[in-house]
Amino acid sequence: MQLQRRNRILRQSPAIRAMVAETILQPSDFIVPLFIDEGENLQTEIASMPGYYRRSLDLTLKEVKELWSMGIKSVLLFIKCRDEWKDNTGKEAWNKKGLMQRSVKAIKEAVPEMVVMTDVALDPYSSYGHDGIVQNGEIVNDETVEALVKMSISHAEAGADFVAPSDMMDGRIGAIRTGLEETGFTRTGIMSYSAKYASCFYGPFRDALDSAPGFGDKKTYQMDFANRTEAIKETMMDIEEGADIVMIKPALAYLDIIRDIKNVVEVPVSAYQVSGEYAMVKAAAKMGWLNEEKTIIETLTSIKRAGADLIATYFAKDAVRLLG
Ligand code: PBG
Repeated sequence: MQLQRRNRILRQSPAIRAMVAETILQPSDFIVPLFIDEGENLQTEIASMPGYYRRSLDLTLKEVKELWSMGIKSVLLFIKCRDEWKDNTGKEAWNKKGLMQRSVKAIKEAVPEMVVMTDVALDPYSSYGHDGIVQNGEIVNDETVEALVKMSISHAEAGADFVAPSDMMDGRIGAIRTGLEETGFTRTGIMSYSAKYASCFYGPFRDALDSAPGFGDKKTYQMDFANRTEAIKETMMDIEEGADIVMIKPALAYLDIIRDIKNVVEVPVSAYQVSGEYAMVKAAAKMGWLNEEKTIIETLTSIKRAGADLIATYFAKDAVRLLG
């Protein structure tokens, strides 16, 4: 054969492949979700997330120091609220002495340069396990947004670098931005979960925080996974309202959405490789059906290739080690 173009020339050795690789993962791509619990010296493995833990604050600080030493720049905090503090207003969420607020302060003291992001939604604090306030069986929008503003301000006060609203109520980004401006927190960023789908892939996370909805599902606020254009509408509105970073969630089943959004926005795009995505890889690896290390790198590279500038992932430490 006489060919004009031989594509395999660029694939013939590891050195050439490295030279022409279009997507390269690095430690600063990752945001590490951390689950924090009350108590001391406690570390509990999450049943449906083998190898991932919920820790008391003292052990969380050790973990954050280790993450920083590995080159990871950001953590995203979630806390487990005691049942007796849960109610329908979610008021524990803006308790100045609450676990989230204490955790933010302690982490910023221990590792000041670590970028601390906080989950903003009522579900861990809600006696109904919903992201908002419930009235007559409905999750009410505007009352919930008021609560989210209080929650965001209290996180900013504690020293959070970014608040990350994950609730999908209408108008919350604009209201949170206004709230932060009015209280003088002009350096606090907003990473909006702007296209968050009602997904079965959040199952293991709800085990981690004991936050599964007590009735119904989250389909009246989280998006329908059949929709694509709507993700752009949601994201563009969040940017207009003041989001600094937008997020698509989950990641692997939504690579088309990540690319659609990357093509039309001028802010950094993040994606969340969620708990169910982690659990799937772990389960298949345990059965010997997939090579865990290769699956981690391939999925994360695909998410970045699709257009994610940042990836929240439970595999961050593994990935950094593997990239070595
Ligand atoms: C809370 C929240 C959820 C996740 C992040 N923030 C659960 C949900 O919306 O039900 C899921 C994260 C994961 O599955 O890893 N609003």
